[in-house]
Order: sequence, then structure tokens, then C-alpha cells
Amino acid sequence: MRIVLLGAPGSGKGTQAALLVEKLAVPHISTGVLLRQAVKDQTPLGLQAKATMDAGELVSDDLMLNLIEERLSQDDVASGFVLDGYPRNLAQAEALTEMLQRLEKPIEEAIQIDVDGESIIQRIAKRAQEEGRSDDTEDVVRRRLEIYQQQTAPVVGYYADQGVLTRVLGEGSIDEVFARIVGVLEMAVR
Ligand code: AP5
Repeated sequence: MRIVLLGAPGSGKGTQAALLVEKLAVPHISTGVLLRQAVKDQTPLGLQAKATMDAGELVSDDLMLNLIEERLSQDDVASGFVLDGYPRNLAQAEALTEMLQRLEKPIEEAIQIDVDGESIIQRIAKRAQEEGRSDDTEDVVRRRLEIYQQQTAPVVGYYADQGVLTRVLGEGSIDEVFARIVGVLEMAVR
């Protein structure tokens, strides 16, 4: 299946994607992970993206389109994929639809993970202590949440209009959220 996971920073996209790819045996494509790896490897993309990421802003659509196009052209996506972190605004959503139309592999399910603001703050604060991610500081998290509301939240409506959106409650344990997502996918394949 070709699945997009949507949700605010800290809503659990990466966590749920990791469980889903194990169950479905498809690749996990996370633009955040790809970018953090590029920063670590000091590639030209990483060098360009680092300051933007550290400020909690979005990396430019052009850079992201190249990155995602390159990843989606690899052979392992033939069986499907779980996409996490892309698309992040309406321009990216439209670019992705166009790209997947060309490849004749449209998105089949977009799952929005809904989590309230208080849980998000708690989860990211915990991760900041455990992992020390450079964009998990209080000010940068505030900015990431603003960007999410302004630019990314409208992507939910975009997929609703396409008739592929389901909202899932992201509160509760990781296993509980995963069971809800699996339930959605089981309904979709019937
Ligand atoms: P990205 O890495 O995509 O960050 P994000 O969307 O802000 O998401 P997070 O990784 O913070 O959260 P998540 O929803 O994956 O939650 P997680 O599972 O980790 O992007 C980072 C930056 O890269 C962006 O700010 C931007 O600069 C750039 N970027 C990336 N994509 C881009 C794009 N397309 N265009 C432009 N720029 C882009 O969970 C969070 C924590 O909570 C974890 O510690 C986890 O263990 C815990 N947790 C998860 N579920 C639960 C649960 N049910 N109960 C308790 N704890 C839980």
C-alpha cells in the first residue's frame, strides 16, 4: 500500500511508520530522517538545510522535491511505502500527486494522527532529554507548531477532498494508536 502519515510535530508519525513498515514490509520514507542524515553526512543538501531545520522552518520546496523524487524512483517502492513528513504544504501535496500520477502509483491512504497540544509538548520535551535533537528546544518547537498550523494543516483538507483521508486519535499508548491505524487499513483493503 502507498500510505501518507500526517500530523503535528511529535504526534507519532515516525513511531507509527516504523511499526507499519514492519507489518506491511514496505519502505519507510521520512523526509526528516533523510534530511538529518544529510546534515550528519555534510552532503550539499545537508549543508543547505541545517540552519533552516534548526530554526524550525521548512526546507525549500525545490530541494524537497528533488529529495523525494529521487527516493520514490528507487526500486524498493514498487511494493508500496509509508511516507512521513512529506507533503508539508499544499504545493508539496500537488507536486507529490503529479509525481505519483506519472508513476501510476497514487496515494491510497492518508492518515492524520490527531494529538492535543499538551501531549505534543510533553512528548517532545521527553525526546529532547533522551535524544537531544537540535530542533527540539522550546522556541524551535513553538515555531514548528506555528508552521504546522499555517502550512501543513491544510494538507489534511487536500487529502479529504481526494477521498483518501482518515483521522485517527493519536492519544493513548503507542500500541493503542497502532491498533487504530491497522484497523483503518484493514477497512481500506476490504
Ligand atoms: P520531521 O522529522 O518530519 O519532524 P516533525 O514533523 O516535526 O515530526 P517529529 O519527528 O517531531 O514527530 P513525529 O510525528 O514523527 O513523532 P515521533 O514518532 O518522533 O522534520 C524535521 C524538520 O525537517 C522540519 O522542521 C523541517 O525543517 C524539515 N523537513 C522535513 N520534511 C520536510 C518537508 N517535507 N518540507 C520542508 N521541510 C521539511 O514521536 C515523538 C516522540 O513521542 C517520540 O519520542 C516517541 O517515542 C513519542 N511517542 C510517540 N507516540 C507516543 C505515544 N502514543 N505515547 C507516548 N509517547 C509517544
